[in-house]
Amino acid sequence: MNRKWIFIFFTLVLSLCLFGLGIAGDKKANSRKGKLLFRKNCRVCHDGGKAQELGPYRKKIKEWESVFAKDKYKEYACKAEWEKLSEQDLLDILAYLRAGAADSKVPRGCG
Ligand code: HEC
Repeated sequence: MNRKWIFIFFTLVLSLCLFGLGIAGDKKANSRKGKLLFRKNCRVCHDGGKAQELGPYRKKIKEWESVFAKDKYKEYACKAEWEKLSEQDLLDILAYLRAGAADSKVPRGCG
């Protein structure tokens, strides 16, 4: 009887650990990475040269979210550039843009 409870206890602990790992490994957006990705993949054109100047402060949080809404990029002239990036890259870029959006705590230019 005792052994059975010990077994159940350890199974529970183990599943909680795995559950925790699952959460930790969940897709997290990284705005610092997003900043670098944005500079490398977006700013090259969106600096007011080839395309309109785009920086986090240019839009509000909600507006950035709709810019990144699923498949919305297919309407943009730079669709091909978006397709080069992974879903995770785009999540990171969105995190960066949201963090510095016009209505965020610290609106940011391109810095
Ligand atoms: C090769 C150049 C180039 C690259 C790289 C590029 N874009 Fe563009 N993008 C354009 C051009 C050109 C347009 C259309 C004209 C404009 O908006 O100035 C455009 C349009 C857009 C629009 C639509 C603007 C609107 O108001 O309709 C968004 C949003 C956008 N780009 C975001 C991005 C993001 C985010 C990235 C990086 C993942 C990116 N672009 C990379 C050239 C580029």
